[in-house]
Amino acid sequence: MRVLIVGASKGIGLETTRQALEAGHNVRALARSISAIEVSDPKLEKIAGDAIEIEDIEAATTGMDVVIQTLGVGLGELLGPISLFSKATQVLITAMNDRGVKRLITVTGFGAGDSAAQISCFQRVPFQMVFGRAYDDKTVQERLIRDSKLDWTIVRPGVLTSGPRTGRYLVLSEASRWRNGVISRADVAEFLVQQIEGTTFIGKTPVLVN
Ligand SMILES: NC(=O)c1ccc[n+]([C@@H]2O[C@H](COP(=O)([O-])OP(=O)(O)OC[C@H]3O[C@@H](n4cnc5c(N)ncnc54)[C@H](OP(=O)(O)O)[C@@H]3O)[C@@H](O)[C@H]2O)c1
Repeated sequence: MRVLIVGASKGIGLETTRQALEAGHNVRALARSISAIEVSDPKLEKIAGDAIEIEDIEAATTGMDVVIQTLGVGLGELLGPISLFSKATQVLITAMNDRGVKRLITVTGFGAGDSAAQISCFQRVPFQMVFGRAYDDKTVQERLIRDSKLDWTIVRPGVLTSGPRTGRYLVLSEASRWRNGVISRADVAEFLVQQIEGTTFIGKTPVLVN
């Protein structure tokens, strides 16, 4: 498959780039700082771009089969206004619709959208204080995706670690089972790569935790 990864220079996006290449896919990796992508592979194309710039995303989505969106903001940005997730997603949906690209796999996080109701009462206040602005915008992002006509999957990991890929994690699809927990970025990437060809989670919002 021809896969665009939006937010590919570090974290889950970089790990997904590596694992998608290992799985044999052709990968177009987009970020603002592509020099950070220390991976070279004949099947990898690195493009510098900004996820909220329509021209960049129009060029990046052209010729793709699948888009994986793994955008994140730095810790220093958490206390200011955040609109990256919703803006980038609006731009992405428009570009995908215009190009007939149907499959979108997006990482948001446990606590976005209707999973917020499952945050424990002990975690609710600190979570809102630190991550509230980001997750409010992720909730808008999720709504845009749900309202789209794309074949979407919204992936909501718990607290991320930089630990190894283990292949041992829970995929919680039922709202009654959603809970917080930890999971490595490498395991999240494994799940994302499985969704490139998988159809089980289309239209679903699984929570991933160990
Ligand atoms: N930390 C946690 O415990 C936790 C838990 C659950 C969910 N999450 C969510 O999981 C997601 C991934 O987290 P992560 O830690 O793997 O991410 P990360 O390391 O922060 O990486 C974020 C990526 O987004 C890219 N990016 C940011 N703004 C961009 C823009 N305007 N245009 C293009 N690319 C842009 C960055 O590249 P450039 O800067 O080079 O552009 C980078 O490649 C985030 O949405 C995060 O909120 C985190």
